Amino acid sequence: MDSWWTHAVIYQIYPRSFMDANGDGIGDLAGIRARLDYLAWLGVDAIWLSPIYPSPMADFGYDVADYTDVDPQYGTLAEFDALLRDAHARQIRVLLDFVPNHTSDRHPWFVESRSSRDNPKRDWYIWQDAPSNNWLSNFGGSAWQWDKATGQYYYHAFLKEQPDLNWRNPRVEAAMFDVLRFWLARGVDGFRVDVLWHLIKDEQFRDNPPNPAYRPGMSPYRSLLATFSADRPEIHALVMRMRRVLAEFGDRLLLGEIYLPIERLVTYYGPEGPAAHVPFNFQLIQLPWAATAIGVAVEAYERALPGGAAPAWVLGNHDKPRVARRLGTGQARVAAMLLLTLRGTPTIYNGDELGLVGVMRPASESLDPKGRTLPGFSRDAERTPMQWDASANAGFTTGGAWLPVQPDFARVNVAVERDDPRSMLSLHRQLLQLRRTDVALARGIYTSGRRHDCVMAFGREFAEQRRVVALNFSSDAQRVVLEGGAAGRVLLSTHLDRSDAVSGEVLLRPDEGVIVAVEERRRSPRPA
Ligand code: GLC
Ligand code: CA
Repeated sequence: MDSWWTHAVIYQIYPRSFMDANGDGIGDLAGIRARLDYLAWLGVDAIWLSPIYPSPMADFGYDVADYTDVDPQYGTLAEFDALLRDAHARQIRVLLDFVPNHTSDRHPWFVESRSSRDNPKRDWYIWQDAPSNNWLSNFGGSAWQWDKATGQYYYHAFLKEQPDLNWRNPRVEAAMFDVLRFWLARGVDGFRVDVLWHLIKDEQFRDNPPNPAYRPGMSPYRSLLATFSADRPEIHALVMRMRRVLAEFGDRLLLGEIYLPIERLVTYYGPEGPAAHVPFNFQLIQLPWAATAIGVAVEAYERALPGGAAPAWVLGNHDKPRVARRLGTGQARVAAMLLLTLRGTPTIYNGDELGLVGVMRPASESLDPKGRTLPGFSRDAERTPMQWDASANAGFTTGGAWLPVQPDFARVNVAVERDDPRSMLSLHRQLLQLRRTDVALARGIYTSGRRHDCVMAFGREFAEQRRVVALNFSSDAQRVVLEGGAAGRVLLSTHLDRSDAVSGEVLLRPDEGVIVAVEERRRSPRPA
């Protein structure tokens, strides 16, 4: 039996922006709970909540001050238990965000650690007499922060308010594994693990080499390759030990946030093979949106995966410009079809199912700390609130929303789109329904299609069932020849307006993707 997550659809919730139940302008657990019926209707299998723990919110929760509680802004442990119970009652699993690389500087461990050089927790973090190398913070500047009281520097891969834990210290590992157990025992179904590839750093703290692919305009942090500050060989044994903690509780999922090239990424599946857990693949976000580039990358990934392992594709998250902003609304629909027809475990970022583009704000007003240290890199736009209906603040809050909703919210929202059979939301719901009922799309193998400049075509096959997915990446009509003159029927178009029979070929309108059920026993599609 496959694990539940090898073909599940995950839905990422950014709790601050999903639904505010108490009118303070900030989303909360009670709000999520009130919207579970929407998620059940949409048809997702699991939700992943970005951090809900007590936090000074320097990085909106990715600076954790207590790993085993809920921030009062978001609710209480009792409310979390109620949310978990209600989600499970709807067959929706719940993943938490595990943030193991760093704590908040207000976490009692760090408060102790910085109190004196001989404090027992000193070695829980990474202290040096001098900034010992050229490592840079992801959010700009040196990663080494001077601490006046004890006359040493500590290392932070992100904000100075996010000191990195020292995972070479077995006490840190033991304490953090107990955090996992705390939530697993409460019933959570797994974790998305924040910056998993960062946990272990080079023992000798060697300088990172310059990145030959660096171009002006990229984040300064990328000017160096994170060869020594991350992705060290020792990480793999650590991930295996982490998996074993999850295994104590049965079939739970560990979903790793890992931004690495394919050949490095697949090593995170681990030598124990497909039985375990998945690293996110961010290529659909990172590559130029072109049929050839995406097609080549998907196939290379399918080939590079260890036998039986499932990919985990992503189109957007709380850190990256929204897909509809990046690609435009027409191609965002094509992208949704791609995400939800590829093999494996896709993650939908909340609001992308509505086609949200977010609201760009001046760098000087960035609430995201990254936007303040690196102008142009603010993540506020992808964190603007969910849009539920046409009432004030799009039904997100009765108070003042912490970030603005889109000016067009009266048109772009759940209530309007639910009633529109051609909306982006209807497209997502139909794709999810099809994935549930269609065994080839849910569990079939991936088969490659022939390359074409503007069309990406591929197959999904399970026993006698064959599906061809043909995606037009252009705004011109395209013709896709079905191999061997196969005939079939369109199961779904991104335009949501056809279910015609096709024979020998499929004609794609501009920005159209289709899923075809192929009748004849033919292998792969052959674009003209
Ligand atoms: C991850 C999170 C991001 C956060 C960073 C530091 O990349 O997705 O939001 O700022 O880690 O925790
Ligand atoms: Ca609230």
